[in-house]
Amino acid sequence: MKDLADHLFDVLENSVTSEATEVKVVLGFCNKRFSCKIKDNGRGIKSEDVTDPFVTSRKERKVGLGLPLLKKTAETTDGFLRISKLEGKGTFLEFETDISHIDAKPFGNLAKVFADALRSWPDVDFEVLIEGEKNEDEQVLNTKEIKEVVGCSDIQHKEIHDFVYKSIDKELKRIGINTQFGNF
Ligand SMILES: Nc1ncnc2c1ncn2[C@@H]1O[C@H](COP(=O)(O)OP(=O)(O)OP(=O)(O)O)[C@@H](O)[C@H]1O
Ligand SMILES: [Mg+2]
Repeated sequence: MKDLADHLFDVLENSVTSEATEVKVVLGFCNKRFSCKIKDNGRGIKSEDVTDPFVTSRKERKVGLGLPLLKKTAETTDGFLRISKLEGKGTFLEFETDISHIDAKPFGNLAKVFADALRSWPDVDFEVLIEGEKNEDEQVLNTKEIKEVVGCSDIQHKEIHDFVYKSIDKELKRIGINTQFGNF
């Protein structure tokens, strides 16, 4: 995992693999700390410690490295990773990292993660928000709304992909996240 975008894509893939139909992501960037909260309505975590590399639902191999690597990325930069099973159905995952830490990973292309997600998993509804001051979050993507306008089959069109990419990229830059090069 070379950057935070790679970590985020893995977390989204985990949600989709757990049969989630709705995934909500809240991104925050304040005082050089990047935070990410992801809530899905999938089947929920089964194991006590999904950050153990030998805990995986994969059939083709017996290791799952996504979450252990994310834990390391977060904790070596004075951050954290927390995962919990939601009441009823689903999983809540939260991580934070200090982007100014010497061991911090660059952001990578975070906007592309979401544009790629809606192309890869057109049946899943993604909602993305940016954490605002005074707890007012700003919605930057709602695929359910896009599907209502363009139709379910058109969500994978390149024009939609480009539109989603550009609008998220613009909002991330506004809060100081340079998706291409990292912040420092
Ligand atoms: N959102 C989630 N809902 C349900 N189970 C999850 C979720 N995220 C992770 N898990 C469980 O934790 C395991 C470990 O996840 P992790 O990302 O570390 O590895 P992986 O996805 O199995 O493999 P890799 O990330 O290396 O491709 C998963 O196999 C799955 O059983
Ligand atoms: Mg994974």
